[in-house]
This record gives sequence, structure tokens and C-alpha cells, in this order.
Amino acid sequence: MLLLLSLVAVAAATPMVTPAPDPQAAQKRATTCTFSGSEGASSASASKLDCSTIVLSSVAVPSGVTLDLTDLNDGTTVIFAGETTFGYEEWDGPLVSVSGTDILVTADDDAYLNGDGSRWWDGEGSNGGKTKPTFFYAHSLTSSTIENIYILNSPVQVFSIDDASDLTLTDITVNNVDGDTDDLAANTDGFDIASSTGVTITGANIYNQDDCVAINSGENIYFSGGVCSGGHGLSIGSVGGRDDNTVKNVTFYNSEILASQQAIRIKTIYGDTGSVSEITYQEITFTDCTDYGIIIEQNYDDTDEEPTDGVTISDFVLDNIQGTVESDAVEIYIACGDGSCTDWTWTDVDVTGGEVSDDCLNLPSGITCDE
Ligand SMILES: *[C@@H]1O[C@H](CO)[C@@H](O)[C@H](O)[C@H]1NC(C)=O
Repeated sequence: MLLLLSLVAVAAATPMVTPAPDPQAAQKRATTCTFSGSEGASSASASKLDCSTIVLSSVAVPSGVTLDLTDLNDGTTVIFAGETTFGYEEWDGPLVSVSGTDILVTADDDAYLNGDGSRWWDGEGSNGGKTKPTFFYAHSLTSSTIENIYILNSPVQVFSIDDASDLTLTDITVNNVDGDTDDLAANTDGFDIASSTGVTITGANIYNQDDCVAINSGENIYFSGGVCSGGHGLSIGSVGGRDDNTVKNVTFYNSEILASQQAIRIKTIYGDTGSVSEITYQEITFTDCTDYGIIIEQNYDDTDEEPTDGVTISDFVLDNIQGTVESDAVEIYIACGDGSCTDWTWTDVDVTGGEVSDDCLNLPSGITCDE
């Protein structure tokens, strides 16, 4: 430490001279730190800048505390091992937060993060009842990867992705199946994405009770090889009324939606402004949707009102979409504002099993609700 301080002092005194390589700093960069048990979260947060690899081995995060891995050194690796648990408190969370540049967050194959959400589940999600913590903030992550993470029983929303650029999420599992019992879990969105550029999500398995993916804003977002079950499908929106109301260049590719409220959804908020453009859903299959196969609405969440034209939806491609809905569900519903849905190209769209809507509004040229 003394040596390090003196080197810093020399460097500061002679700012024009490039400091010689510091062997101690190199060693520091290669340090693996392992944290575990009930002190693990506070020790990891306190020491995170001294470690190039942070191993979180069966950490028991205390109630009301975030496992704080924000502002990590560039290039830090975080590895979850064993079961990570979280104490109970009624609060907003997050339970885990990671930020930095060139960060890798990964896990041993048998590791899992156990939210034990049943302690909070009351059927009201984020709309009432107990205040529930969001699980995982992936905010302000640049050129980073989150992979091989298994989340069990989230209290409410799982991944909040905000202000990220060039972020890859690979092989993420969210298993909230237990929350289906008595409809107790709600608003357990898999990935909520906002104000981010370049987010790639591959091979996700999401078993939940709300959107598998929901994009409020952001650009260059790619979701492929996913399975989404029990929730609200692949959603854009709701768009409008926030600081950032632009969604651009989003692709959902080669994914399967099972037993969900709907498979494909774009919702823009009644009376607000913004833009949704360059949206592609390709090679999407779905079965047994309970409400809609495909739903596009420009009057969320005032569906008694006529849709408004302030948030446009343009360059919207559906290609090779095959799905079934339950017999009392609507196959396709579209409610556009006057002239605010343009340049839609739908090919090989085949939705069967339910009712054909006869009150679609302001359909763009070439599109019908009877595909
Ligand atoms: C659209 O996003 C993809 C990533 O999903 C990216 O590879 C591509 O370059 C983007 N296209 C444009 C025109 O920015």
C-alpha cells in the first residue's frame, strides 16, 4: 500500500511522464474475491473495487439491502455460486444492482437466485398491497454480458434494463411458476427495457405472470431463441408519457409463446406522443393465448376512448407468425389512430382457434384482422 501511494504521488508530481507499469496494480486486477453468507453482500459491496473477479458463494442478502455491485471496475467478472437468498422487507428494491463497463455476470450451472417471492405475493403486484422489490437492476451497463442466471420466484418485476448500451443477456431463466397458484404473483415482467441501445437477449426461458419482454423505449434490441410461458408475451410499450418515448429497430426472432394472455403486443398510451418504428417479429409460434394472439392498441390504457395518433407505429413487419388462441379469445385486434399506423408488412401470419374481431380501427393499408 505504501508503495502504491508513493507511486501515485510520483505520478501526480510529474504528470507528463507516463507511469511505469505498476506490478501491484496488475496483481490487484487479477484478484479473485469470494464472499459468502450473511456478511457476503456488505463485504462484496465494500470491497468490489479491489477484485477483478467477485464470487458470490451462497450469499444471504439481509432484508432491505441491495446486493450493490454498481460502478464496478472495467472488466470485472461476477460469478454467482450456490443459492443466493434475500431477507424479507416491504420495499422497492432492487435486490441486486450491477453497473459498469465490460462486465461479465455469470453463474455456476447449479446456482440460483431465490427471491422466495411468496412472502410478498398478494395478487396485487405493483398496483397495491405490499410494496415489493424489483429483482435485478441492469442499469448503466456498457459492453457487458449477463449469462446463465436462474431466478426463482421473483416478488415482482425481474430484470430492469435501463441506460444500457451493448448489453447481451444469454441463457437467462426466470421460474415464477409457483406464483400461478391462486394467481398470487403479478407484474413479474421478465425484461423491462428503457433508454437502452444495443440489447441482445438470447435463449431466455421466462415462466411468469406479466410481459416476457416489455420495451418502453430504446433502439437496436434483438430477442431470439426465447420461450415465454404463462405471461403477457412479447410487448412493446406501453410507449408514451415518459422522458423517452422512442422505440426503434426491435427484432423478436425464433421464439415460442405458451399459454399467455397474448403473444404479440404493441401498446401506445392514449393522448401521448412518441414513435415506434422498424419493428419485426419473425418466426414466432404460440399456443393457447387466453385473450388475443396479436394486439396493437393506440389507446392504452383508456380503451373506452378512440385511439389517438400521437405515438406512430411504422415499418412494422410480421413474418411467419403461427399461433392458436383459446376459443373465446380474439385472434387479432388492431386499434390505430387516424393515419398513425403506416408501412406495415405482414406475411405468413396465421392465427387460429378464436374469434375474428369485427371492430378493428383505422387499419393500415394491406392489413386485416382476419389473417
Ligand atoms: C438494428 O439492430 C440490430 C441489433 O438488433 C443491429 O445489428 C442493426 O445494425 C440495427 N440496424 C440499424 C439500421 O441500426
